[in-house]
Amino acid sequence: MNVQHLLARRTERMQVNAIREILKVASQPGMISLAGGIPAPESFPLELIAELNARVLATYATDALQYGLTEGFPPLRHALADRLATKGIPVGMEDILVTSGSQGILDAVGKTLISPGDPVAVESPTYLGALQAFAPYEPRYLALTCDDEGLIPESLEAVLGRRSVKFVYLVPNFQNPTGRTLSMSRRRTVARILQRYNALLVEDDPYGDLRYEGEPLPALKTLAPEHVIYIGTLSKVFAPGLRLGYCAAPAAIRDWLVLVKQGVDLHTGTYAQALAAEYIAGGYLDRHLPRIIELYRPRKNAILDALRHAFPADFNWSRPEGGMFVWVEGPEGMDMRALYNRAVENGVAYVPGQFFFVDPAKGRHTLRLNFTMADGPTLKRAIELLAHVMRRQG
Ligand SMILES: Cc1ncc(COP(=O)(O)O)c(C=O)c1O
Repeated sequence: MNVQHLLARRTERMQVNAIREILKVASQPGMISLAGGIPAPESFPLELIAELNARVLATYATDALQYGLTEGFPPLRHALADRLATKGIPVGMEDILVTSGSQGILDAVGKTLISPGDPVAVESPTYLGALQAFAPYEPRYLALTCDDEGLIPESLEAVLGRRSVKFVYLVPNFQNPTGRTLSMSRRRTVARILQRYNALLVEDDPYGDLRYEGEPLPALKTLAPEHVIYIGTLSKVFAPGLRLGYCAAPAAIRDWLVLVKQGVDLHTGTYAQALAAEYIAGGYLDRHLPRIIELYRPRKNAILDALRHAFPADFNWSRPEGGMFVWVEGPEGMDMRALYNRAVENGVAYVPGQFFFVDPAKGRHTLRLNFTMADGPTLKRAIELLAHVMRRQG
């Protein structure tokens, strides 16, 4: 059956075929894939699951299998609010909405706030999944300029000074795709700009807990609480397959997000929420997180060492202190999408950077590398192979 004429107009905004093709090739046997964006399976607390299951059944019994509140399972919301308080984020459990991954919040934010043509300001480059979540609601993207310290505040001020935007979307910690972190002084400046222009920020923070060096920086939510929807997830510190994200939003927006979510899935799976409640409140997360950090830190160091030793001198790359990604910039004029097939023939896959830009003409000379899925020696080999491909083109 030909279904083309049946498709809603919004599907025109949902074309992502190119990147799907790339990820398909990346999972071929024998490929070293630095293309993914997923946690290492050995980071999951597999040995704890039986114990957590037993606690869930003993504590909640049939409540863990029942329908629940759209806002989320109260014990998990309590645990999340307590955890956010330790980071200086001033919220109570009533402020927390649990969603099916942080992706679920991004969709709810888009559905709640964006009408066709509404301006939404995003970092350039930014998280592709956010662009995909918002796109069906037909925003007009405004690109914010970034450097090694993250968003350049003057760029935000210039955009907000010219027009009001529905919201600003930022990933301030170890950003996907660049691995960059917004510096402390810029956080203060961005918070002041948000307040001055009465603007709303969507602060997406999946990687903040994955810090391998340096001191944690306060969330923007602590600096301008009334202006920020703070989004977190358990995907990188527990297990992404459980699909557990959460947000703390200003009350008037949160009520709309709840209504929107109710229409989508009534609520996020109760059993998974109960497991997470026990994981956090039982102190398991605090004990397990250092193990994840110890797993990833050497991988991050291995990829940065390998880049330093193997990559040509006219390449630049980010030096993240956490997260999952390194961002590489080749000389202007290189085309990393065109080089992708050559890299794959040599047994290494990456994501060409252009997919993370709202302007498709940008970022052709850039690429994103993931370092969480491979061990140090494998990362070293992958970077050497990739350097060989790059040198032949340089
Ligand atoms: C910046 C960012 N936001 C959100 C997500 C979605 O994560 P999840 O839906 O698993 O919470 C990801 C996943 O990689 C991400 O990198």
